[in-house]
Amino acid sequence: MSASYAVIGHPIAHSLSPRIHRYFAQQTNQDMVYNARLAPLDGFAASVKQFRDQGGQGANVTVPFKVEAYQLAEQLTPRATLAQAVNTISWQTDAHAKETLLGDNTDGVGLLRDLTDNLQINLQEVRLLILGAGGAVRGVLAPLLAAGAHITLNNRTPQRAIELISQFSSLGKISLSSEVKTAPFDIIINATSASLQNNLPCCKPEWIDSNTLCYDMVYANDPTPFIRFAKTSGAKRCADGLGMLIEQAAEAFFVWRGIRPNTTELIKTRLFNLTD
Ligand code: ATR
Repeated sequence: MSASYAVIGHPIAHSLSPRIHRYFAQQTNQDMVYNARLAPLDGFAASVKQFRDQGGQGANVTVPFKVEAYQLAEQLTPRATLAQAVNTISWQTDAHAKETLLGDNTDGVGLLRDLTDNLQINLQEVRLLILGAGGAVRGVLAPLLAAGAHITLNNRTPQRAIELISQFSSLGKISLSSEVKTAPFDIIINATSASLQNNLPCCKPEWIDSNTLCYDMVYANDPTPFIRFAKTSGAKRCADGLGMLIEQAAEAFFVWRGIRPNTTELIKTRLFNLTD
């Protein structure tokens, strides 16, 4: 029987993960199936159990269940512990046949690979402004700091940014936007959920010049309000979150199958050639 994987979320119908993982499976000759599973908003744990009972071997977890998956996991990787969120689960069985639910987080490394491998950016001492201070930011701070980025946080609710800074300051250089004068920035990452409601988070034109890479973590076919603002403000390089989506999927695939798929073609074609 083929190994069975899934992405679990709510809503889930528009998830690109099944197409991406089926492409990876074909590319690496893995005998596996990968499906989207809708979990009721109050039924994530039951959905995970049902999937396992049906032979599931691993799953991606998406909105709004990443924190619940973190709480449900019986064991966590160091990067999931730092992120306080889980986007990749699998089961481990010990010598006594006792099973453990393992929670991992591949979002941070996904963003890092997209920036360094695909967009060819050396993050060492780069002046990086991150808009937002929610779960999406928490998931990516550790690898960005480890890569040497000098991070400034700006959030609508400053207190949340202050809390993240105090938690992550031991890992590298990170400060609050009101306390530093480093504009314009080398990179600005919109990690708020504002794009999902077609809104623009607070962003000032003087933070951007023609060399600033403006990156929206949200994947969208049409430019988000943030990307439109960036272009109007003179940014020559803009990117959306498709590369991060593909790279976090590749890392999850590696966690499950021990093989790293090649992402170059998917990134280049922006999934254009994928079929269901
Ligand atoms: P996620 O897991 O997507 O990060 P979250 O933890 O709810 O979700 O965080 C959402 C982030 O987007 C927060 O930084 C939020 O700002 P607040 O902390 O002030 O709530 C930010 N956000 C959402 N909508 C926004 C908007 N319209 N303008 C600016 N920031 C917004």
